[in-house]
Amino acid sequence: MTEHWTPASWRSKPAKHMPTDYPDLSAVTKVEQTLRGMPPLVFAGEARRLKTLLGEVSEGRAFLLQGGDCAESFKEFHADNIRDTFRLILQMAVVLTFAGGKPIVKVGRMAGQFAKPRSAPIETQGDVTLPSYRGDNINGMEFTPEARTPDPQRLLQAYSQAASTLNLLRAFAGGGYADLHNIHRWTLGFVADSPQGARYRELGEKISEALTFMEAIGVTPESQPALHQVEFFTSHEALLLGFEEAMTRIDSTSGQWYDTSAHLVWIGERTRELGGAHVEFFRGIKNPIGVKVGPTVEADDLLRLIDALNPQNEPGRLTLYGRFGYDKIEDRLPRLLRATKAGGRSVVWAIDPMHGNTLTAATGFKTRPFDRILSEVKSFVELCKAEGVHPGGVHLEMTGQNVTECLGGARALSETDLADRYHTHCDPRLNGEQALELAFLLAEKLKEERAEQQRRAAS
Ligand code: PEP
Ligand code: CO
Repeated sequence: MTEHWTPASWRSKPAKHMPTDYPDLSAVTKVEQTLRGMPPLVFAGEARRLKTLLGEVSEGRAFLLQGGDCAESFKEFHADNIRDTFRLILQMAVVLTFAGGKPIVKVGRMAGQFAKPRSAPIETQGDVTLPSYRGDNINGMEFTPEARTPDPQRLLQAYSQAASTLNLLRAFAGGGYADLHNIHRWTLGFVADSPQGARYRELGEKISEALTFMEAIGVTPESQPALHQVEFFTSHEALLLGFEEAMTRIDSTSGQWYDTSAHLVWIGERTRELGGAHVEFFRGIKNPIGVKVGPTVEADDLLRLIDALNPQNEPGRLTLYGRFGYDKIEDRLPRLLRATKAGGRSVVWAIDPMHGNTLTAATGFKTRPFDRILSEVKSFVELCKAEGVHPGGVHLEMTGQNVTECLGGARALSETDLADRYHTHCDPRLNGEQALELAFLLAEKLKEERAEQQRRAAS
């Protein structure tokens, strides 16, 4: 891996899960050329800031909360959807900060999360077989030959949607909406009358009281901007390397290459092989990056991958998202934790409790049982604790919408309920209530970790 790197050097490596069936490849090149001339979506300085914060996570002083749609879509692109996911993340962050006593690093799976690796390249319905849906920036979900044919113009629409989404997120994060005094206004309508809503209200009251006290002693949003705004970052799986290459620019401050399509980008479970195009592209960009780590990864492979992606062992550069499944995590994770710890590799260990827990319901819907998701999160925290590793974060597929995609939760969604509001363009997401319930559970775990740290410090 010491070969010369350029934003295009991935092109000579084997690339998986990228569409090769565009009817006109010269049209793709043309679109990429257009994208090269478009403004960056994020600045290198912001990506560096996120890397610093993730460095804090890797040292055990902060916690990562990352979440959003499995796949954003052109159809579900509305200001309300963006706002609802944003405020759900704010609510979860409040719950986690309050219990864990640590800053929460907030990262949306938003503003660019379109392309999907698919397990099957084709889909058959009746006697018709068509290419699979691969994400709105590649083809359309509708089951027709026209929709399923990859269209490079979709990349431009995805860029434009990402830009508008980011614009709104920046406004929400910095323009007063995220002011801690609004804590009671973030509750989503349908969550308000649930047990989680009541629990959140109680917490909000405690925080409001604390704010009133702080104001009385002179700590106000004017003197403490942190009360008035939040830092919020964007991320997606950088699957379409042509698009990512076009968005990769030299930062004039550092002279280094940054992928300006998002603050953080990650490599999926299906494209993380050494020697492949994705690892090649990622090793050269300076953003904070992530890799999904599934149940087949062995410790040696993991160390080799880490060394390819983070040769300087820079804190905050690399986040590992375990995604094993509730029934495999106990067998697979400890040896990997031991390997990174014993090998002195600075990484953030986080958990994606979604992708190892997917199943197909009898009704045909792809779903995830909420209790398995909770169980994998719990196991993650406990296994990390047992190995003396900081359980650094969670990576969730979730939405502020009142969807019925994952089974269980406080309202005990059943297989027959799934049909009610099943809107996802790819994998099943937690709805607002389920996500908040998960945050409360995690908060309890973080509280235990904090108590233990305090005990250790005192003894
Ligand atoms: C995803 O995050 O949507 C995804 C496809 O995950 P994984 O690469 O872990 O399967
Ligand atoms: Co997914």
